[in-house]
Amino acid sequence: MALPNDIESTSELLDAQAHVWNHIFNFINSMSLKCAIQLGIPDIIHKHNRPITLSQLVNALPINKLKSQCLDRLMRILTHSKFFVKVKISEDGNVNEDEDGYCLTPASRLLLRDEPLSVAPFALAMLDPILLDPFNHASEWFQNDHSTAFVTKHGRTIWEYLGIEEWWNGLFNEGMASDARFVVSVLIKECKQVFEGLKSMVDVGGGTGLVAKGIVDAFPDMKCVVLELPHVVAGLEGDKNLSYVGGDMFESIPHADAVFLKWIFHDWTDEDSIKLLKRCKEAIISSDNNCRKVIIVEMVVNDQKHDYAATETQLLFDMLMMIEVTGKERTEKEWAKLFFAASFTNYKITPVLGLRSVIEVFP
Ligand SMILES: C[S@@+](CC[C@H](N)C(=O)[O-])C[C@H]1O[C@@H](n2cnc3c(N)ncnc32)[C@H](O)[C@@H]1O
Repeated sequence: MALPNDIESTSELLDAQAHVWNHIFNFINSMSLKCAIQLGIPDIIHKHNRPITLSQLVNALPINKLKSQCLDRLMRILTHSKFFVKVKISEDGNVNEDEDGYCLTPASRLLLRDEPLSVAPFALAMLDPILLDPFNHASEWFQNDHSTAFVTKHGRTIWEYLGIEEWWNGLFNEGMASDARFVVSVLIKECKQVFEGLKSMVDVGGGTGLVAKGIVDAFPDMKCVVLELPHVVAGLEGDKNLSYVGGDMFESIPHADAVFLKWIFHDWTDEDSIKLLKRCKEAIISSDNNCRKVIIVEMVVNDQKHDYAATETQLLFDMLMMIEVTGKERTEKEWAKLFFAASFTNYKITPVLGLRSVIEVFP
């Protein structure tokens, strides 16, 4: 049989097949990671305090011991994807060429349950069937008139769903809180100047208030309000520097020197984002020009960069926003268009958060 038209050699044909296979089965990387987190494999290795052999790992895990060879295969793919490393070990410190032991890598350290900057709750929320299932309806959604594939699958928006399914609200908010802990620790270390001089700030859509807590701990003279949907802040208690307000950010935002929004605009269309930026502008009333600003933590998509993995991750997030919510990840040009449409005059992007940036927007 002839090769397809634009494929010239058998090796090109086989490369093409390998490329397709890699993409067909890429989800198994995500699922293997989820399985490792759910079984607590990183925690067991960490507790062991030195490289752990497969048999020690099998004994320590709450699994059917007949499946030890299967665990070996799970560890093999996760070692390939750099979540674990294999080293030669021996009980007495001498090298025993026959024994391999697994160690953590910087990536799997972030999966430890007791690690303050753990991303495990975020991973478990993002890999829950509630968010995965809508991807099976993407082609159907392209042909219907629903706002998102999430609506096609679940019959309501993600925000409505969170409001009625308490367990999912808990899982989602814990996932967001873990990312908030991570981000605020980097912000305080690398970008403290952004918050200096502020006497008050509103964290719009601030979840359970982890960013706000981190900020007021670092700036004890600042008062911080978390504005959130009522079901998110129900039962949460503030203190003298931190308070929670249940409400709708599209209706009104409490007055403050600055408004902070992390991972909010990427949930919404350009039209909604401009409306929200206008509400933010009405909220910032400080007479001190240096304090009057909107502080945004989001991605600035740069697909001209030559870091393949970073660009791919940003594009994957963009697809996530398309499928689950009505938003998108934006390029600098797209951000600027929103800011000027909402009558802001200037902005500054500081790329201190890896794939995300801090964007200060000035009236
Ligand atoms: C992607 S989460 C980000 C949470 C938090 N800012 C963070 O990054 O950890 C978006 C948040 O926006 C909140 N939200 C959605 N619609 C809202 C509205 N109309 N008013 C206030 N908050 C809203 C959700 O409840 C959710 O907590």
